Amino acid sequence: MHAPSTRRILVTSALPYANGHIHLGHLVEYVQTDIFVRFQKLRGHRCIYLCADDTHGTAIMIRARAEGTTERELVATMRQAHLADFASFQIAFDHYGSTDSDANRRLCGEIWSRLRARGLVVSRDVQQLYDPQAGVFLADRFVKGTCPKCKAADQYGDSCEQCGAAYTPADLVDPVSTLSGGRPEVRSAEHLFVTLEPLHDFLATWTRSSGAVDPRIANYLAGHFLCDPLRDWDVSRPAPYFGFEIPDAPGHYWYVWFDAPVGYLAATDEWCAAHGDTVTAWWGRGGANEPAAEIHHFIGKDITYFHTLFWPAMLEAAELSLPTKVRIHGFLTVNGQKMSKSRGTFLLARTYLDHLDPGMLRYFYASKLSGAIDDIDLNLDEFAAKVNADLVGKVVNLASRTARWLEATGLSARYPDDGGLFAQAAADGAEIAAAYEDCDTARAMRAIMHAADRANAYVDAEQPWKLAKAGPDAAVKLQDVATVALNLFRQLAVYLAPVLPALAEQAGRLVGGPIRSWDESQTPLVGLPVAAFEPLMKRVEKTQLDALLAAARADAEKDARHKGATAMEPTPATTSPATTGHDSGEPLAAEPLAPTCTIDDFSKIDLRVARILTAEEVPEAKKLLKLTVSLGGDATRTVFAGIKGFHEPAALVGRLVVVVANLAPRQMKFGLSEGMVVAASGAGAPGVYLLSPDSGALPGMRLH
Ligand code: 2FM
Ligand code: ZN
Repeated sequence: MHAPSTRRILVTSALPYANGHIHLGHLVEYVQTDIFVRFQKLRGHRCIYLCADDTHGTAIMIRARAEGTTERELVATMRQAHLADFASFQIAFDHYGSTDSDANRRLCGEIWSRLRARGLVVSRDVQQLYDPQAGVFLADRFVKGTCPKCKAADQYGDSCEQCGAAYTPADLVDPVSTLSGGRPEVRSAEHLFVTLEPLHDFLATWTRSSGAVDPRIANYLAGHFLCDPLRDWDVSRPAPYFGFEIPDAPGHYWYVWFDAPVGYLAATDEWCAAHGDTVTAWWGRGGANEPAAEIHHFIGKDITYFHTLFWPAMLEAAELSLPTKVRIHGFLTVNGQKMSKSRGTFLLARTYLDHLDPGMLRYFYASKLSGAIDDIDLNLDEFAAKVNADLVGKVVNLASRTARWLEATGLSARYPDDGGLFAQAAADGAEIAAAYEDCDTARAMRAIMHAADRANAYVDAEQPWKLAKAGPDAAVKLQDVATVALNLFRQLAVYLAPVLPALAEQAGRLVGGPIRSWDESQTPLVGLPVAAFEPLMKRVEKTQLDALLAAARADAEKDARHKGATAMEPTPATTSPATTGHDSGEPLAAEPLAPTCTIDDFSKIDLRVARILTAEEVPEAKKLLKLTVSLGGDATRTVFAGIKGFHEPAALVGRLVVVVANLAPRQMKFGLSEGMVVAASGAGAPGVYLLSPDSGALPGMRLH
């Protein structure tokens, strides 16, 4: 028996906006977080999982107007939809709050007073476009006009999709409000700012040395923000705005990104009120007798600086506990491309649920997530192959082909000789637990599937179906073989319980009762009754995937008809720019275009599609991975690529990339590099992004 755990772990996922439904991109984060929380609870730690709807801001105000309803009604309807989707995907929050709550208003006020008391609030006039017909200040997304640089029509207020120029809405030629269709005017309004520069040293040290921020992210922050004086953060919006009015600044409202993270505190407050606990027990900095609780924020990479700069600054000013870990993941692509309504790959949670089992998606995501910030791809063929091979073929099959032999007799009274299989998988538990702790669920799933392979090989070798036919002489042997198989199945179910809670419950009903502790993986069960086997999960069929995609297309068409009928509004941001198609101008602004080159200049560079054959770490090099790539046939190249840390070597193998194939070989400290892999990086998001061709491209094809 272990000593009782003393760890107290508060876990959050980013608060979803209340102006859109949950889709499979959101679920990457909720599934990842839920797995982490279930794992910690199974290990016996005190862990609470908190989240809330993010309700305020311009987008929701506009949507409510377009739908002829109030913001609060819209928020209430969306809350029910979010809760239903989360429950269906077995996301088990301990509390789900709302940023539009009394607790949040009060806590925002408390933090605001602390910021004021430290002299960190200043006020300044800001020029903004105002729509006199709609009576609102326009966020950049709600203004369109002609690009001041290339004169392309119909461009958004902050950047041009044609030439990439970044500008302010006031620079647009012939600006039009997308709300009223009228011409906006430039108005000056007072805004309140939080000055961050006094916290510069604190943030530089915290991001670098606390262990909360991955060193690669800390480098990114150092290179893009902390290298210059920190700009003041604009935290207020003038009326009308759906949010909280700032108590000591009537007519001014806290900007949605000010009150959203305070929602983490408010959700804690509400949970504590229901459980006889106090917020300071979780967010206080601890003392000699009670160490501070751990705080883990799970977020997507697009909101990195809110959680690694602004939010820590607010917590520091309020003398609250800082995050123990900010765990950052990448975006979801579907079949290799960003989710898209027009391609019919914008998959809503509830559309998925009409066609497929939520456990399958949980497992698929778990098998892809390594704790790194790489995007993950939901390739539907791979999804079906993995679910069918691993979950159905290896895990469920182990029980389905052995449980029935024990319905009459129950498990053997003593655990039979299994050649050390149970003990071996029990010993694997430490490594599997370490992988879960690191959020490297891909590693955990690989180890679990290896154990499943060994268990199935045992059943294949012992052939219980033959023993069953051999009559009473073989009955004891049959019971023993099935006892081993069912124990190995239950052991897998314990290891998979954080990912597949429904499977774990079914396993518990089959034999041994509910799985409550990780330690149950360490001791086999004997002498217990075995219930009738209930089918656990069926194979994914191609027809289901086709039906899912057809339904997604129908959703998109319905959505387009609805939009056309209700308003001239742009798509409200239901998530990051990756799924809204409205991209920031920051990368281009930070790295302007190179001087013009001729087509002859370009054709000197021979860019080819290549397939990665091997990928390995170069231990002595901080940034390099050593890749062998194929250009088709027997042509291969060795390339050292500066992508270490952003890509798991194992996940790269087999992937198509683009290489500069005629680059002069270069002798490096670690070997000869015979080309270059093309990747993108720059301001706006941390990371190094490899380029991939559309599927169908072949190694050796030239880029023209
Ligand atoms: O990006 C988003 O979807 C935001 N609604 C996340 C808010 S997280 C937190 F800080 F509140
Ligand atoms: Zn332009």
